[in-house]
Amino acid sequence: MIPADDPGFEALARKISGAGFAVEAYKDKCIRRRIAVRMRACGVHTYADYQALLDRNPTEYERLRDALTINVTRFYRNAETWNLLRRELIPRLCAPGAGEIRAWSAGCSSGEEPYTIAILAAEYLDGCGRSGELDRLVVDATDVDRLSLERAMAARYRPENLTEMPAELAQRYLEPVGHELQIAARVRRRVFVRRLDLNSRRPPRRDYHMVVCRNVLIYFDRPMQERLFQIFADSLVPGGYLVIGKVETLFGAVRERLILVDPRERVYRRPA
Ligand SMILES: C[S@@+](CC[C@H](N)C(=O)[O-])C[C@H]1O[C@@H](n2cnc3c(N)ncnc32)[C@H](O)[C@@H]1O
Repeated sequence: MIPADDPGFEALARKISGAGFAVEAYKDKCIRRRIAVRMRACGVHTYADYQALLDRNPTEYERLRDALTINVTRFYRNAETWNLLRRELIPRLCAPGAGEIRAWSAGCSSGEEPYTIAILAAEYLDGCGRSGELDRLVVDATDVDRLSLERAMAARYRPENLTEMPAELAQRYLEPVGHELQIAARVRRRVFVRRLDLNSRRPPRRDYHMVVCRNVLIYFDRPMQERLFQIFADSLVPGGYLVIGKVETLFGAVRERLILVDPRERVYRRPA
């Protein structure tokens, strides 16, 4: 929510929204901090001057958008959560069968999260002697940030991005390309990267077995978070899992719709 007590800020917020970035859904403090970063970088001191600069220099919109969408991510970020997925959720999702295994990484940034999901599925299936079944996996990876999506599509990473991932997984599912590491083609093919603004309130589909949305909700205000929780619940099949970030909490009416499976790792399930 942008308070109406600051005309300069209000006008700037309206302008940014008009250009297609729905600032009003984000926490006010978060938006102000990020705009301040860009204003400092451009050497302007008032919201009105920054607005004039946006008029003069449209590429500044891109930089502002990059600043507003905080893209920090890593492979296997918060290892305990991934260990739980590896041990319990992935084996259940990859139960023998012929059907698709569908997951959605919402707010996937540069791809480390969706590729971690695909790597864990590949590892499990390889370990069971069912490598061919990896073709059943579909991981939709969505984000609003253009640059992050380009990186996710390239699927090449610096070794520093992999420090939390168990070494045997990194060795098996990433291949050296110059100074970087690239996700192995058979895993990369299972991840479908595309742009989706969570403000559009439309999930890519409504039959996911797992939705992972971590460290994204914290930037939104409470009404938007509640709307997103409902969208995630709507997008799961009965029995499907929702995984949110370790510092995020499910609240509001959706608590009637999802069962808490693991309070520490913030895993929920839609009743079967
Ligand atoms: C801190 S990163 C989290 C990345 C990853 N989920 C993780 O936990 O490592 C937050 C991501 O949310 C994305 N994001 C912010 N607002 C969004 C929106 N309206 N729609 C889709 N993605 C958004 C950002 O672009 C950024 O990539």
